[in-house]
Amino acid sequence: MRILLIVGGGIAAYKACELIRLLRKLGHGVRCVLTEGGSHFVTPMTLAALSEDQVFTTLWDLKDEAEMGHIQLSRQATLIVVAPATADLIARMAAGLSNDLATTLLLATDKPVLCVPAMNVRMWQHPATVRNVAQLRADGIIVLEPDEGPMACGEFGPGRLPEPQAIVAAIEAATATTASLAGKHILVTAGPTHEPIDPVRYIANRSSGRQGFAIAAALASRGARVTLVAGPVSLTTPAGVDRVDVQSALDMAAAVDAALPVDAAVMVAAVADWRVEAIPQKVKKGTAPPTLTLVENPDILATLASSSRRPALLIGFAAETENVVDHAIAKRSRKGCDWLVANDVSGDVFGGGENTVHLVTDAGVESWTRLPKEEVAARLADRIAETLS
Ligand code: C5P
Repeated sequence: MRILLIVGGGIAAYKACELIRLLRKLGHGVRCVLTEGGSHFVTPMTLAALSEDQVFTTLWDLKDEAEMGHIQLSRQATLIVVAPATADLIARMAAGLSNDLATTLLLATDKPVLCVPAMNVRMWQHPATVRNVAQLRADGIIVLEPDEGPMACGEFGPGRLPEPQAIVAAIEAATATTASLAGKHILVTAGPTHEPIDPVRYIANRSSGRQGFAIAAALASRGARVTLVAGPVSLTTPAGVDRVDVQSALDMAAAVDAALPVDAAVMVAAVADWRVEAIPQKVKKGTAPPTLTLVENPDILATLASSSRRPALLIGFAAETENVVDHAIAKRSRKGCDWLVANDVSGDVFGGGENTVHLVTDAGVESWTRLPKEEVAARLADRIAETLS
């Protein structure tokens, strides 16, 4: 899931840092908007480092506005979280003002909004704030109750930002999807494979595993039991997913075989087509360059498609740089899978956050617009749920 986190100007802004860390650990994408007030408590650099993403601070950034930045920010998000939401930010939201980036995108969004207030107890209990919070709730915004306890200002009472774990739980509850895949076991392969040349070297490819991991997360959040066979990637395991780490294509084939039977398999991994014939010792620098003899790897997807343990729904992926759709149609019949998802990797898809895909099925070809990988995953997971039900 992709969280757009608006960090307002209160001392609790430091807790937003911990919130980002927790969300990232759970495999969620976080993009931050820092208000002017917020920037007095935490720096854009801190939020950028923790979220591993650009931080947005101003409505008047010409580059972003040429691309309608405030609309884009909302479009890319699954949920908008305002934490800490100060009394002033809440008042401006309740009044429908749009006098900075945060309030403008909050006014422009059609995504769910979770507001996490933090302020002095008297400000929280002031009739104006009570009125504003009631207005936000009437507008469909989820407003968490602040925690009670000693406050940074030395007073005691309700007004403290809830602990980051509690905010994460509220985020998960706000985005909970129906358990449309409960009782289904789904296999996902993701990432590259590393094919050893000798004990210290290998052949690899540029797959980051992000799309496959997002699909595993989307399936698990819909109640599926997910086995994720992952090549060498540096990604955290999505919540509720059983992960099996592998290195080479042969390891991946064995791990896939061990996971069967499954109801569906989504083969997203960029498996190396070739491996190097075994060289038991490190290749020494010599006078002549060594010759590598390549041997074909098993096609895991095609093997599964023709096996007696073929799942009810078998989905392949294809990375293409030209004639994307034609190649995808041909590949679907060659591999014998039910659906083939073709990604156009001519741009910055490898390692990037977005993907342009074409879904090839019996019914024809559907071309999806460029979407965040999490959104591609969510749509695909919904289609899988429809098909398996
Ligand atoms: O032939 P190509 O590598 O383009 O096919 C991509 C699809 O086939 C992906 O779904 C990938 O996971 C799968 N594949 C496989 N085993 C291989 C090569 C590709 O499962 N050896």
